[in-house]
Amino acid sequence: MAIDYSERIPNNVGLGDNRALQRALEHWQPQFLDWWRQMGPSASQNHEVYLRTATAVDAEGWASYGMVRMPEYRWGIFLADPIPDRCIGFGDAFGDKVWRQVPGEYRSTLRRLIVTQGDTEPASVEQQQRLGLCCPSLYDLRNLFQINVEEGRHLWAMVYLLHAYFGRDGREEAEELLGRHSGDPDKPRILSTFNEPIEDWLSFFMFTYFTDRDGRYQLKSLAESAFDPLSRTCRFMLTEEAYHMFVGASGITRVVRRTLEQMQALGHDDPADLRRTGAIDLPTLQRYINFWFSSSLDLFGAENSSNAANYFATGIKGRPDEARFADHIALGQELRLQVPDRDGGVAEEPVPLRNAMNEVTRGAYIKDCDIGVQRWNRLIAEAGYEIRLALPSPRFHRAVGVWAGAHADPQGNPIGAQAWTARCREWLPSEEDRAFVKSLMQRVTEPGRMAGWIAPPEGGINNLSPAYEYVRLN
Ligand SMILES: [Fe+2]
Ligand SMILES: [Fe+2]
Repeated sequence: MAIDYSERIPNNVGLGDNRALQRALEHWQPQFLDWWRQMGPSASQNHEVYLRTATAVDAEGWASYGMVRMPEYRWGIFLADPIPDRCIGFGDAFGDKVWRQVPGEYRSTLRRLIVTQGDTEPASVEQQQRLGLCCPSLYDLRNLFQINVEEGRHLWAMVYLLHAYFGRDGREEAEELLGRHSGDPDKPRILSTFNEPIEDWLSFFMFTYFTDRDGRYQLKSLAESAFDPLSRTCRFMLTEEAYHMFVGASGITRVVRRTLEQMQALGHDDPADLRRTGAIDLPTLQRYINFWFSSSLDLFGAENSSNAANYFATGIKGRPDEARFADHIALGQELRLQVPDRDGGVAEEPVPLRNAMNEVTRGAYIKDCDIGVQRWNRLIAEAGYEIRLALPSPRFHRAVGVWAGAHADPQGNPIGAQAWTARCREWLPSEEDRAFVKSLMQRVTEPGRMAGWIAPPEGGINNLSPAYEYVRLN
């Protein structure tokens, strides 16, 4: 179904045919706009931004580009087209027809999953609220705003499901999604990574590389769901999410490039000297990787999880790219987990595969994260330097799962609490690192100019030049 932009709420779900639902969402809409004005990008009300807007939901040419005043962006409800005769792809009900409505016995579980996913979307907009005030270029400012409006749309996607399928409880949850705020001591966001402040652009690129990628894997798992409206919503969200990760990957690549240029100009790689050139030294970059990667690993949940087993058995949430697995039942198999042993070492513990589904997803995510790291290492090697970046061990700096509370170094060797306290400054961004990175964050708004700590992008948006005036500040 085509997207109808003549409606107050653009949609391809036939909203006009369901008056009660339409009225309920039109009641929520001004609350969303109030939230955007208060918690969305600071001082952006008069900006005109070169944004893409969804015009169709098929793979080719779904987006149109143009200058938009940000508060006038048309947030809407878009589901990927249904797959005819789609069947449940995994678990105990493998091969049965998918659900068009929520089965009563799974109602609260599905609602909780949708609320948890929905909560992350506005949370990230709140985390990134002030970044526009210190953007390294107009190109980057535009990318930030593009991501922000799409995270806002992802909130709409989850709110639609809550309103359409969960009655009064769903409407209350939709209001709560605007009532919690990132980092709020009284009403924080649900997941801890989404309460971490993002006050500099290095953190923003790390977040879009590591945390948006967690989002991608969560959406992939939910796209497998037997609850078909959830699956269709997530499939379309994934098409938007791909660009968020591009922003992260290309952003970090540009930081590495600039750092290497300055190292070569300097003739050596002493971090303190390098900092004086206004570039970000690679050890600091590594500490930021350590922080955001380990925090994002926690989002996948415990290694051994009866909830995960239950989601898989019932068909609520599958594995990313379930079709690529040979066996969709996953019974009678084990995964060997690494767990801390009593003597401060590492032991192996077999866990039934269904209980280890979080770990299966986390494993796929880690492999995906490593692709970028290897690309950055190739740049470093080509520039003639020995230093290498690396993902820390999944045992490092965890707050969720079997390694929570156990201390390990970035190689994954268990260490005592004392050794951790003595050395964690080497491994995680210190106050001083953060202050240094923050000191570089000077706003650059002349078209085509870049801040000194980051290289220019290889190309612009939608085949325009990188020097195009992507944001008219007005
Ligand atoms: Fe999102
Ligand atoms: Fe995203």
